[in-house]
Amino acid sequence: MSFSSTLLKWYDVHKRTLPWRGIQDPYKIWLSEIILQQTQIAQGREYYLHFIDRFPTVDMLAKASEDEVMKMWEGLGYYSRARNLHTAAKEIARQGSFPRNYEDVRALKGVGDYTAAAICSIAYNDPIATLDGNAYRVLGRIYCVELPFDSKEGKSFYKELANSLLDKQRAGEFNQAIMDFGATQCTPKTPRCQECPFADKCGAHTAHQEYNFPVRAKKTEVKERFLNYFFIVWNNQILIHKRNNKDIWRSLYEPYLVEDEKQCSIQDLQDAWLQNIITGGNILTEHAQDVRHMLTHRILRTNFFSIHLKYKPQEIPADYSFHPLEELTTIAFPTLIKKALGKINL
Ligand code: ADE
Repeated sequence: MSFSSTLLKWYDVHKRTLPWRGIQDPYKIWLSEIILQQTQIAQGREYYLHFIDRFPTVDMLAKASEDEVMKMWEGLGYYSRARNLHTAAKEIARQGSFPRNYEDVRALKGVGDYTAAAICSIAYNDPIATLDGNAYRVLGRIYCVELPFDSKEGKSFYKELANSLLDKQRAGEFNQAIMDFGATQCTPKTPRCQECPFADKCGAHTAHQEYNFPVRAKKTEVKERFLNYFFIVWNNQILIHKRNNKDIWRSLYEPYLVEDEKQCSIQDLQDAWLQNIITGGNILTEHAQDVRHMLTHRILRTNFFSIHLKYKPQEIPADYSFHPLEELTTIAFPTLIKKALGKINL
């Protein structure tokens, strides 16, 4: 039996029931794909249903405010995806309908090769193979691919291989079948080779090399960043600002931040405005030290403080403003900050 027949036979029995399956609406498929780049199926399903409930059509998403879209994305991380989603929704609304061909879908903000292939194959059954982490693992193991999937040569090899195996009549299902197969059967740490329909053909399994495939070229370096957050409260209001640099958490809000090159004590922080506030007879409380939070390729090491001010400061740092504490639940914060706000009694 061919690769695609074996795979699709497995899929017909084992496919997962997901809310974006069995529909052809490219908007919903696009939305599900963008969410699933950020999280696992279980959590992704909740976010997807919430988005579709609030924005049943792309026009409704286009009309939303950026703050609302960011709030709905809160907790998923990598917030540029949400901003791109919103920008692309506005562009689609401007065009009048969801683009029909691969190049036009690929041209949408935040849509790369993978996402364009997923949308076009699932919504339109265009015969284009998708390659996500699952597909690299499944193909890398079965065909013992020695080229690293994160190298230029490896990528084009895998692309050709996947397209040569693709069932062109059932392209969308073939692509989703590889994803489901990788996610539930050919898993990274505990592949279920005993009950795998490819077991006797799988190069990696027959050579007892499951864990050595797929081959990867680079190990990504993990950087540390040292953040000091100050929950500065005056008159039941907290000082926050919207992050707007090309950096993590762009378009999310955060309390007063002093970032440093290393872990150091509050007296050593080189921040004139803060030192002024601390020495002004205000109440400083240290809440948590060296809280560690992982992001892709980064470890954040964070200290949390609160400062209750007696008087409104004469000068407020540029870009910051006071917001009522009771409005905090409507504002989009990074997960790290949201958790801290939940623990600290301001
Ligand atoms: N991961 C990303 N997109 C998916 C899909 N359509 N089905 C299953 N897993 C996925």
